[in-house]
Amino acid sequence: MQLVTEDNITELAKARWATAHDARTRELLTGLIQHLHDFARETRLTEAEWMAAIQWLKATGQISDEKREEFILASDVLGLSMLVVQLNHRFDRGATPATVLGPFHIDGSPELEYAADMSEELPGVPLFVSGTVRSLDGTPVSGAILDVWQADEDGAYEAQLPVEEARLRAKYTTREDGTYCIRTIAPKGYSIPMDGPVGQLIRQTEISHFRPAHVHFLLNVPGFRPLITHLFEEGAEYLDSDVVFGTKQELVVGYEHHEPGPTPDGATSLVPWVSATYDFVLQPVG
Ligand code: BEZ
Ligand code: FE
Repeated sequence: MQLVTEDNITELAKARWATAHDARTRELLTGLIQHLHDFARETRLTEAEWMAAIQWLKATGQISDEKREEFILASDVLGLSMLVVQLNHRFDRGATPATVLGPFHIDGSPELEYAADMSEELPGVPLFVSGTVRSLDGTPVSGAILDVWQADEDGAYEAQLPVEEARLRAKYTTREDGTYCIRTIAPKGYSIPMDGPVGQLIRQTEISHFRPAHVHFLLNVPGFRPLITHLFEEGAEYLDSDVVFGTKQELVVGYEHHEPGPTPDGATSLVPWVSATYDFVLQPVG
């Protein structure tokens, strides 16, 4: 009989899980065991601490549902989501960088025309975002779909509200010359959800629980690497302390401020409005 000791348990556990049929599963599980065991040894993990961690994981699962993704949030605030993004999206210089997906993307957003309003007159300063989607070599990409979503003026996403209709999310398609135009409202910085296990941990620290103002974009265009990213407002609060480590200088855009008057959709705004321009540069596959 093989005796289990403090010294051999890691190798025994790795050997057992090295029987995984798939090579990658084998690599991931044996690596995980090594790091978990090292962590327990290095920190001299106590039983009470490990039980507290298990209870926290249980609560994280229990608060999650189709609309609430507390595990994604946990991964985000620990910096793991952004690390995985960086490891998997090493685009060429000049391509638009990727950032975190976050927990609030919803599939199947309505398709809107060039410059159509995805804010449906929710309160806020009208914002037009326009530009071109192009390849790294400068070729405009026509027919590219921009899946766009954002929070409202109170920092709430549709997924956090009891609403039936799509709210502040839409899909826009680039025109023949690669151009797009989105009409929405200027987003504001907001707090991540603090009423669950992630919030409970953050409250035990000095961490700022806010994200700087941003709009989310997902571009999944055939022939190009998928791009999940945000645009941030230049000068926005929390740019330097984003709780999910998602900011990048290349994704910060200046807003132009306009008096009431004609807007890019051919209408006239009765209130002051803002605009931003940004060209999304996609990395070709291969
Ligand atoms: C978001 O930007 O929607 C988000 C990202 C990570 C955590 C929470 C929210
Ligand atoms: Fe967001």
